[in-house]
Amino acid sequence: LTPAGARAVDHYLVGTLIAHDDALDAAVADQRAAGLPDIEVAPTGGKLLHLLARAIVARRVLEIGTLGGYSTIWLARGVPGDGRVVTIEAESANAAVARASLDRAGVGEKVEIREGRGEDVLPSLEGEAPFDLVFIDADKESNTLYLDWAARLGRPGTLVVLDNVVRGGRVADPLDETAQVAGVRAGLEMLRDDPRFDATALQTLDAKGWDGIALALVV
Ligand code: DHB
Ligand code: MG
Repeated sequence: LTPAGARAVDHYLVGTLIAHDDALDAAVADQRAAGLPDIEVAPTGGKLLHLLARAIVARRVLEIGTLGGYSTIWLARGVPGDGRVVTIEAESANAAVARASLDRAGVGEKVEIREGRGEDVLPSLEGEAPFDLVFIDADKESNTLYLDWAARLGRPGTLVVLDNVVRGGRVADPLDETAQVAGVRAGLEMLRDDPRFDATALQTLDAKGWDGIALALVV
Protein backbone atom coordinates (compact mmCIF):
# COMPACT_ATOMS: atom_id res chain seq x y z
CA LEU A 1 0.00 0.00 0.00
CA THR A 2 1.51 3.30 -1.11
CA PRO A 3 0.92 6.66 0.59
CA ALA A 4 -0.90 7.80 -2.55
CA GLY A 5 -3.09 4.69 -2.40
CA ALA A 6 -3.92 5.35 1.24
CA ARG A 7 -4.85 8.95 0.43
CA ALA A 8 -7.09 7.77 -2.40
CA VAL A 9 -8.85 5.33 -0.08
CA ASP A 10 -9.31 8.01 2.57
CA HIS A 11 -10.69 10.39 -0.06
CA TYR A 12 -13.11 7.67 -1.19
CA LEU A 13 -14.25 6.84 2.35
CA VAL A 14 -14.75 10.46 3.34
CA GLY A 15 -16.58 11.18 0.09
CA THR A 16 -18.80 8.15 0.59
CA LEU A 17 -19.60 8.32 4.30
CA ILE A 18 -18.97 11.80 5.67
CA ALA A 19 -21.43 14.48 4.62
CA HIS A 20 -20.03 17.83 3.55
CA ASP A 21 -20.32 20.26 6.45
CA ASP A 22 -19.74 24.00 6.25
CA ALA A 23 -19.14 24.47 9.98
CA LEU A 24 -16.47 21.75 10.11
CA ASP A 25 -14.79 23.09 6.95
CA ALA A 26 -14.79 26.59 8.40
CA ALA A 27 -13.32 25.34 11.68
CA VAL A 28 -10.40 23.78 9.81
CA ALA A 29 -9.96 26.83 7.56
CA ASP A 30 -9.90 29.25 10.50
CA GLN A 31 -7.51 27.02 12.41
CA ARG A 32 -5.12 27.02 9.43
CA ALA A 33 -5.49 30.79 8.96
CA ALA A 34 -4.61 31.32 12.62
CA GLY A 35 -1.44 29.27 12.19
CA LEU A 36 -2.48 26.38 14.41
CA PRO A 37 -0.78 23.06 13.63
CA ASP A 38 -2.45 20.76 11.13
CA ILE A 39 -2.98 17.97 13.69
CA GLU A 40 -6.74 17.80 14.30
CA VAL A 41 -8.34 14.39 13.85
CA ALA A 42 -9.23 13.35 10.30
CA PRO A 43 -12.91 13.47 9.28
CA THR A 44 -13.23 9.71 9.68
CA GLY A 45 -11.81 9.96 13.20
CA GLY A 46 -14.04 12.88 14.08
CA LYS A 47 -17.08 10.95 12.99
CA LEU A 48 -15.89 7.92 14.95
CA LEU A 49 -15.80 10.06 18.11
CA HIS A 50 -19.27 11.35 17.29
CA LEU A 51 -20.70 7.86 16.74
CA LEU A 52 -19.04 6.52 19.89
CA ALA A 53 -20.63 9.32 21.93
CA ARG A 54 -24.03 8.49 20.47
CA ALA A 55 -23.54 4.74 20.85
CA ILE A 56 -22.92 5.01 24.57
CA VAL A 57 -25.52 7.77 24.94
CA ALA A 58 -22.88 10.02 26.46
CA ARG A 59 -24.22 13.05 28.32
CA ARG A 60 -20.93 14.32 29.71
CA VAL A 61 -17.80 14.30 27.58
CA LEU A 62 -14.32 15.40 28.59
CA GLU A 63 -11.79 16.32 25.91
CA ILE A 64 -8.16 16.98 26.79
CA GLY A 65 -6.64 19.05 23.96
CA THR A 66 -9.14 21.30 22.15
CA LEU A 67 -6.81 22.72 19.50
CA GLY A 68 -9.18 24.61 17.16
CA GLY A 69 -12.32 22.76 18.21
CA TYR A 70 -12.71 20.43 15.22
CA SER A 71 -13.06 17.22 17.25
CA THR A 72 -15.01 19.20 19.84
CA ILE A 73 -17.71 19.99 17.27
CA TRP A 74 -18.01 16.31 16.37
CA LEU A 75 -18.28 15.35 20.04
CA ALA A 76 -20.74 18.12 20.94
CA ARG A 77 -23.02 17.04 18.10
CA GLY A 78 -22.96 13.55 19.60
CA VAL A 79 -24.42 14.53 22.99
CA PRO A 80 -28.07 15.39 23.59
CA GLY A 81 -29.31 18.97 23.89
CA ASP A 82 -28.78 19.04 27.62
CA GLY A 83 -25.45 17.20 27.34
CA ARG A 84 -22.09 18.84 27.98
CA VAL A 85 -18.58 18.74 26.60
CA VAL A 86 -15.82 20.09 28.81
CA THR A 87 -12.67 20.63 26.76
CA ILE A 88 -9.26 21.65 28.08
CA GLU A 89 -6.85 23.80 26.07
CA ALA A 90 -3.48 25.08 27.22
CA GLU A 91 -3.09 27.77 24.51
CA SER A 92 -5.50 30.68 24.86
CA ALA A 93 -5.11 31.57 21.17
CA ASN A 94 -6.31 28.06 20.28
CA ALA A 95 -9.21 28.37 22.71
CA ALA A 96 -10.33 31.61 21.03
CA VAL A 97 -10.35 29.95 17.60
CA ALA A 98 -12.25 27.00 19.05
CA ARG A 99 -14.83 29.21 20.78
CA ALA A 100 -15.67 31.01 17.54
CA SER A 101 -15.91 27.75 15.58
CA LEU A 102 -18.09 26.06 18.21
CA ASP A 103 -20.47 29.02 18.30
CA ARG A 104 -20.67 29.13 14.50
CA ALA A 105 -21.40 25.39 14.45
CA GLY A 106 -24.33 26.00 16.81
CA VAL A 107 -22.96 23.88 19.65
CA GLY A 108 -21.42 26.66 21.73
CA GLU A 109 -23.90 26.27 24.57
CA LYS A 110 -23.00 22.62 25.03
CA VAL A 111 -19.27 23.26 25.31
CA GLU A 112 -17.25 24.66 28.16
CA ILE A 113 -13.64 25.46 27.23
CA ARG A 114 -11.32 25.40 30.22
CA GLU A 115 -8.09 27.23 29.51
CA GLY A 116 -4.97 25.96 31.17
CA ARG A 117 -2.68 23.00 31.31
CA GLY A 118 -4.38 19.68 31.86
CA GLU A 119 -2.53 19.02 35.08
CA ASP A 120 -3.86 22.29 36.50
CA VAL A 121 -7.42 22.12 35.17
CA LEU A 122 -8.24 18.44 35.69
CA PRO A 123 -8.27 18.55 39.51
CA SER A 124 -10.93 21.29 39.29
CA LEU A 125 -13.36 19.05 37.37
CA GLU A 126 -14.31 16.70 40.19
CA GLY A 127 -17.62 18.55 40.60
CA GLU A 128 -18.52 17.85 36.96
CA ALA A 129 -17.74 14.14 37.08
CA PRO A 130 -18.49 11.45 36.19
CA PHE A 131 -17.77 11.80 32.51
CA ASP A 132 -19.14 9.13 30.18
CA LEU A 133 -16.52 9.60 27.45
CA VAL A 134 -13.00 10.99 27.69
CA PHE A 135 -10.98 11.88 24.57
CA ILE A 136 -7.27 12.38 25.26
CA ASP A 137 -5.49 14.24 22.45
CA ALA A 138 -2.92 16.52 24.00
CA ASP A 139 0.82 16.42 24.74
CA LYS A 140 1.79 12.77 24.52
CA GLU A 141 4.35 13.11 27.34
CA SER A 142 1.44 13.53 29.79
CA ASN A 143 -0.61 10.53 28.63
CA THR A 144 -0.32 8.69 31.94
CA LEU A 145 -1.34 11.77 33.91
CA TYR A 146 -4.36 12.22 31.64
CA LEU A 147 -5.31 8.54 31.86
CA ASP A 148 -5.14 8.71 35.64
CA TRP A 149 -7.57 11.66 35.59
CA ALA A 150 -9.80 9.91 33.06
CA ALA A 151 -10.19 7.05 35.52
CA ARG A 152 -10.69 9.39 38.48
CA LEU A 153 -13.26 11.53 36.66
CA GLY A 154 -14.95 8.53 35.07
CA ARG A 155 -17.05 5.69 36.41
CA PRO A 156 -17.22 1.99 35.61
CA GLY A 157 -18.15 1.91 31.94
CA THR A 158 -16.60 5.24 30.97
CA LEU A 159 -15.09 5.01 27.48
CA VAL A 160 -11.61 6.48 27.06
CA VAL A 161 -10.18 7.22 23.61
CA LEU A 162 -6.45 7.96 23.43
CA ASP A 163 -5.24 9.50 20.17
CA ASN A 164 -1.96 9.02 18.33
CA VAL A 165 -0.72 5.72 19.68
CA VAL A 166 1.19 4.57 16.56
CA ARG A 167 2.96 7.73 15.35
CA GLY A 168 3.91 6.49 11.90
CA GLY A 169 5.03 3.17 13.39
CA ARG A 170 7.53 4.74 15.76
CA VAL A 171 5.77 3.24 18.78
CA ALA A 172 7.20 -0.15 17.78
CA ASP A 173 10.67 1.12 16.84
CA PRO A 174 13.03 0.20 19.68
CA LEU A 175 15.47 2.86 18.48
CA ASP A 176 12.94 5.64 18.99
CA GLU A 177 13.55 7.16 22.39
CA THR A 178 11.80 10.50 21.88
CA ALA A 179 9.76 11.85 24.76
CA GLN A 180 6.58 11.72 22.69
CA VAL A 181 6.93 8.05 21.81
CA ALA A 182 7.95 7.28 25.40
CA GLY A 183 4.73 8.97 26.50
CA VAL A 184 2.68 6.93 24.06
CA ARG A 185 4.28 3.68 25.24
CA ALA A 186 3.83 4.64 28.90
CA GLY A 187 0.13 5.26 28.23
CA LEU A 188 -0.33 1.88 26.56
CA GLU A 189 1.55 0.12 29.36
CA MET A 190 -0.65 1.88 31.89
CA LEU A 191 -3.73 0.65 30.03
CA ARG A 192 -2.30 -2.86 30.35
CA ASP A 193 -1.15 -2.68 33.99
CA ASP A 194 -3.59 -0.37 35.75
CA PRO A 195 -6.55 -2.41 37.01
CA ARG A 196 -8.87 0.51 36.39
CA PHE A 197 -8.70 -0.09 32.60
CA ASP A 198 -9.36 -2.72 29.98
CA ALA A 199 -8.11 -1.67 26.56
CA THR A 200 -7.22 -2.33 22.96
CA ALA A 201 -5.69 -0.26 20.17
CA LEU A 202 -6.10 0.00 16.41
CA GLN A 203 -3.77 1.28 13.71
CA THR A 204 -5.32 3.92 11.48
CA LEU A 205 -4.38 5.13 8.01
CA ASP A 206 -6.27 8.24 7.05
CA ALA A 207 -5.80 11.77 5.78
CA LYS A 208 -3.40 12.36 8.67
CA GLY A 209 -1.18 9.41 7.80
CA TRP A 210 -0.34 6.26 9.72
CA ASP A 211 -1.31 6.49 13.37
CA GLY A 212 -3.72 4.84 15.77
CA ILE A 213 -6.11 5.09 18.67
CA ALA A 214 -6.44 3.17 21.89
CA LEU A 215 -9.91 2.44 23.25
CA ALA A 216 -10.28 1.69 26.94
CA LEU A 217 -13.09 1.04 29.34
CA VAL A 218 -12.90 2.15 32.92
CA VAL A 219 -13.79 -1.03 34.80
C1 DHB B 1 0.52 15.46 16.88
C2 DHB B 1 -0.46 15.52 17.86
C3 DHB B 1 -1.70 15.00 17.61
O1 DHB B 1 -2.67 15.00 18.55
C4 DHB B 1 -2.01 14.43 16.38
O2 DHB B 1 -3.25 13.91 16.21
C5 DHB B 1 -1.03 14.35 15.41
C6 DHB B 1 0.24 14.88 15.65
C7 DHB B 1 1.85 16.02 17.16
O3 DHB B 1 2.04 16.62 18.23
O4 DHB B 1 2.73 15.89 16.31
MG1 MG C 1 -4.27 13.74 18.01
